[in-house]
Amino acid sequence: MKRAAVLCGIGAWVPPGVVTNEALSAVMDTTDEWIRTRTGIRERRVVEPGTATSDLAVVAGRRALDSAGVKSADLVILATTTPDHPCPATAPDVAARLGMTGVPAWDVAAVCSGFLYGLATANAFLTGGTAERVLLIGADAFSTILAPNDRSTRPIFGDGAGAVVLRAGESDEPGALGDIVLGSDGSLRDLITIPAGGSRTPLSGPDDPDGYFAMQGKPVFRHAVTRMTAAAQEARRRAGWSAEEVDCLVAHQANYRILQAVAAKLDVPMTRCAVNLDRVGNTAAASIPLALADAAADGQLKTGHRALLTAFGGGVTWGAATLTWPDIPVEGS
Ligand code: COA
Repeated sequence: MKRAAVLCGIGAWVPPGVVTNEALSAVMDTTDEWIRTRTGIRERRVVEPGTATSDLAVVAGRRALDSAGVKSADLVILATTTPDHPCPATAPDVAARLGMTGVPAWDVAAVCSGFLYGLATANAFLTGGTAERVLLIGADAFSTILAPNDRSTRPIFGDGAGAVVLRAGESDEPGALGDIVLGSDGSLRDLITIPAGGSRTPLSGPDDPDGYFAMQGKPVFRHAVTRMTAAAQEARRRAGWSAEEVDCLVAHQANYRILQAVAAKLDVPMTRCAVNLDRVGNTAAASIPLALADAAADGQLKTGHRALLTAFGGGVTWGAATLTWPDIPVEGS
């Protein structure tokens, strides 16, 4: 049997602060109806001032370690768009707070595809034999990079963290990952961006509007559907699964209409799609592990089920993966 990365623990965490569509319509020019019908989102969770990405990541990471019944890992990978600081990476701090001082730890930056990029990184270490156990966390406090009254971004994004523990195992075990498909197209970098504040364009001052996240919704919608579908088809092909054999499609929770379009192109009915964006919105790097945890906690994703994962994010970047669901304790978000 082939050596494989095996998912053996999962943890999820969203901050307690709920922001409903009604609350947003009280402070910006939008309505519950517009947000619900265009995105499928009813509410999202938002951090209190002073709560950082690492605070979310530590809770999700601890829950994943508990779910796996272990105290530590050989390395810690944090996928995030919103590190606590521009420098250094946030993963070492998260590892230390989880009692893993001395363990290699680094951030992965692929925006909403970050979890799948992290999964591919973890997979390479585990299948290559240089690690036996990896803690992979996807966490974003996305609300901290949104312009306060921007109706084109505020309604869409939410904060949260999801984490998994992966161990070295064999390809026929429940929890085993199949091939992971990744891609990028940097010529589309301006579709999803924080224009200023990096080495290319410094912030012109504390009120520089280019210091906030910006997204061109329509082309992002189109590319997200095309790329997620193609990547998922390729991952499914490599796994040798037919459309009927996909028990659960876990696509990046960007927009309900995007999920519908991707599911339709993949011939997977919506009843077999994980959906939690109505409650948490688009949580960027946390989206896939949160959706996995919620689908498993709700009983939609059962032991032995074949799950097809796919995501699209800034860069632009995309990816897809397959796995069979293991028998592990799960607490939803
Ligand atoms: N409330 C009310 N009206 C709004 C609004 C809001 N929050 N945001 C935009 N509008 C208005 C626009 O001004 C526009 O008005 P106009 O027709 O008078 O010009 C109209 O609604 C349509 O705007 P548009 O941006 O074309 O809407 P859309 O149908 O493309 O939906 C998104 C916008 C952002 C929901 C959609 O493009 C989307 O989901 N894109 C993908 C986003 C995403 O998934 N990003 C993450 C990927 S990693």
